[in-house]
Amino acid sequence: MIHFNNAGCGLLARPVLQAMLDHLELEARIGGYEASAARAEEVRDFHASIAELIGCAPGNIAFAGSATHAYTKALSAIAFEPGDVILTTRNDFISNQIAFLALRRRHGVEIVHAPDLPGGGGVDIDAMAALMRSRRPRLVAVTHVPTNSGLVQPVAEIGRHCRELDLLYLVDACQTVGQYEIDVNEIGCDLLTATCRKFLRGPRGSGFLYVSDRVLRAGFEPLFIDMYGARWVEPGRYRPVETAARFEEWEFPYATLLGCAAAVRYALDVGLGPISRRTPALGDRLRDRLAAIPGVRVLDRGPRPAALVTFEISGWDAEPFKQAMDTRGINSALSFREFAQFDFADKDVDWALRLSPHYYNTEAEVDAVAETVADLADKQG
Ligand SMILES: Cc1ncc(COP(=O)(O)O)c(C=O)c1O
Repeated sequence: MIHFNNAGCGLLARPVLQAMLDHLELEARIGGYEASAARAEEVRDFHASIAELIGCAPGNIAFAGSATHAYTKALSAIAFEPGDVILTTRNDFISNQIAFLALRRRHGVEIVHAPDLPGGGGVDIDAMAALMRSRRPRLVAVTHVPTNSGLVQPVAEIGRHCRELDLLYLVDACQTVGQYEIDVNEIGCDLLTATCRKFLRGPRGSGFLYVSDRVLRAGFEPLFIDMYGARWVEPGRYRPVETAARFEEWEFPYATLLGCAAAVRYALDVGLGPISRRTPALGDRLRDRLAAIPGVRVLDRGPRPAALVTFEISGWDAEPFKQAMDTRGINSALSFREFAQFDFADKDVDWALRLSPHYYNTEAEVDAVAETVADLADKQG
């Protein structure tokens, strides 16, 4: 099997799996509450390790069950009013776009999409900055790398404009945490969301939300806050806790938290520097090989794409093509027009296959996958 679906879910490293198995065994043996108390220090490493990974304090991190869970919690903290503007891009993640549309329906916000550079190499920063000045958005929301292509958006440059204009800035870093070095101060974001299961190689059902000190001090809190996120100080009043824990709930999947902490420590040991060089380089190698195959059109744009390699292949429908890859032992993922209404319309494609290697994949695997695609291009489903 060749696992080229790391943008879906990375493979667990052995210590990650072991951390979770050990905890489940402890829960079965001594009780769930007692097990989390016994491992309290290791559990705290969930926040500490992620803080180390993205350059903040543990108190800026909240656990979430997924990147989407983190994202909607963050959105729920913003008291949108009719006419408020959300400024985003044409390459934002599908679920974020649906959430904005839901906010439009319920609260009458306006969604503004900054234009792309000519040729579609990512957002036009100057045009986006001009929109920031003219529209004064309530929120600037950018996906670092969308799910449907390897495009890397210039999140730090956008962040500099947000800081200059004092605008609230939310970054979806779901595909980049674990693939690149991420520094929230360099990005200048107020809120950042990610999952642990993709390039971080953590367990499914986990993610996190970064909340800046600025946002915490300003009193942002999720719409629904529970007894963990707030103190019920008197019958008619509650007070949110000081840290990003106000975005968490009382109940945690402790084995998952321990698995995430182990995954982050593992990534830090391997080193985000080497990972961020090798992983996109494997993607580049694959892109080059695929681009040389007649009938294949590589779809990723932008100067330095991430390790999400997307392409269309003539003569094939989506499902049979993915199935043909599956039966040849190659893990991949499909993206459809619905995932990327702007991007796929611009590229004039209805679907694309996504191959996403990670640092543990090899050059030989890249070449074998490209040969398989070439073979299938000849056969035409
Ligand atoms: C860019 C991006 N954002 C958000 C998500 C959603 O992550 P989750 O499934 O953890 O909610 C994904 C998942 O593929 C993604 O690629």
